[in-house]
Amino acid sequence: MKWLEDENGLQYTVTSSQSIKKFTEVVSAYMGFEIDTGKRLKQLLIIDPKMPMALCTKGYFAMLMGNANFTDKAIITSQQLNDIVKNVSVSPREHQHAAALSLWACRDLEKAAIIWEQILLQYPLDGLAARLAHFAHFYSGNGRQMRDSAARLVPYWPQTHPDFGFVLGMYAFGLEEADSYREAEKYGRWAVEINPKDIWSAHAVAHVMEMMGRKREGIKWIKKLEPNWITVNNFRHHLCWHQCLYHLELGDFQEVLKIYDEKIVSDLNADFYLDVCNASSLLWRLEILGVEIGERWHSLQHISAQHIGDMELIFVSLHYLMVLSASGKTDLVNEMITNIRHWSTLDTSQSKIVADVGLSIAKGLHYARKNELYLAIEKIEQVRGKIEAIGGSKAQLDVFDMILLDAVQKSDMNQKASDLFAERVRKKPHSFWSWKGYSRALSELGKTEAAEDALRRSQRIIEDY
Ligand SMILES: [Fe+2]
Repeated sequence: MKWLEDENGLQYTVTSSQSIKKFTEVVSAYMGFEIDTGKRLKQLLIIDPKMPMALCTKGYFAMLMGNANFTDKAIITSQQLNDIVKNVSVSPREHQHAAALSLWACRDLEKAAIIWEQILLQYPLDGLAARLAHFAHFYSGNGRQMRDSAARLVPYWPQTHPDFGFVLGMYAFGLEEADSYREAEKYGRWAVEINPKDIWSAHAVAHVMEMMGRKREGIKWIKKLEPNWITVNNFRHHLCWHQCLYHLELGDFQEVLKIYDEKIVSDLNADFYLDVCNASSLLWRLEILGVEIGERWHSLQHISAQHIGDMELIFVSLHYLMVLSASGKTDLVNEMITNIRHWSTLDTSQSKIVADVGLSIAKGLHYARKNELYLAIEKIEQVRGKIEAIGGSKAQLDVFDMILLDAVQKSDMNQKASDLFAERVRKKPHSFWSWKGYSRALSELGKTEAAEDALRRSQRIIEDY
């Protein structure tokens, strides 16, 4: 094996320059959420089975599954890679990547992210490190880091680089999660103009539209771009989830159920965690809004039950727990909460988040479903101010706020309901549910005129549609 350098100044230990070309294609495919990314990597490993960066990426991809079974595979790959790194002279950057994989496979995503950021300081054109750092900041609940990490990269990437748009998309999403909506939209749209298939950038713009209440525009945005995502992996279902949120906030529930059935749960066998996150948070929202969802929880039970022992990402585990608690699987819920409690005592980066926030939310969800509403409110409220620590986007985390507000309203805590809905109508003034809930709380407090005004605002949102 020998060291060769690619066009970005990145050194690789390979058998031939052909391996670098194929690896570059794998990274581009990964950044574009292409469905054949894994296949491309397998082909590369056939022609260059000991290429350190190919093996490392195999381990990274296993970790990206956010699934305990794949973590075991990543540990094995990491050991193979470390054996190679010990016996073959590899470049310093490859050493750093091998170290990051070792840490991540031991569930220390925080330290792995530090290494990726160190790599990027020296090699800002390392797209793999850039995308992984973005992922790590996202699941550590750090929108500002997402924004700043990408902001540092943008000036280094030539506009002619085939992956330039993907970097813009990361910056756009970081900006959106840091509440800079106009800037986020500018960069996101620019990236989509460069490459209409770029789903992460389209997604950043979809988030902007969600946060700004631009529901009709959001529906059009996704419908227009959707035909470009034929070769995109199941992440495309998450864009359908965003489309559902727009319809939900317009009170168009039939459309939500149609998209849910036809798209969101169309490939549960893939065992892709985001599919279950999309589905469970949507079903819970629909139930809060009083929509009859039939037996839809049922199809999510089997897959969720397989993940009660996972200790990968608490954000994801909470969604499996949502399914099991909504389905009344009390034994499994109790077992899962015991596992989450144990998880909170371990020494991993997610464990700290579980101890600080995740465990309380888990208990809160369980109590909410058992109709022990005061306990549910207590548990969720305890951590409400720091819930972003569990990762996920602001739009995704909103379901936990909805669960809290719903529990408060059902508990007849009228003053508290009024205060929380007053907060919500300012945060989400374009949501009919915000105004409807506010109206009901005001009415219970005898504030008839204000309640009628809030109800009119709620109705106007639906009528306008
Ligand atoms: Fe999203």
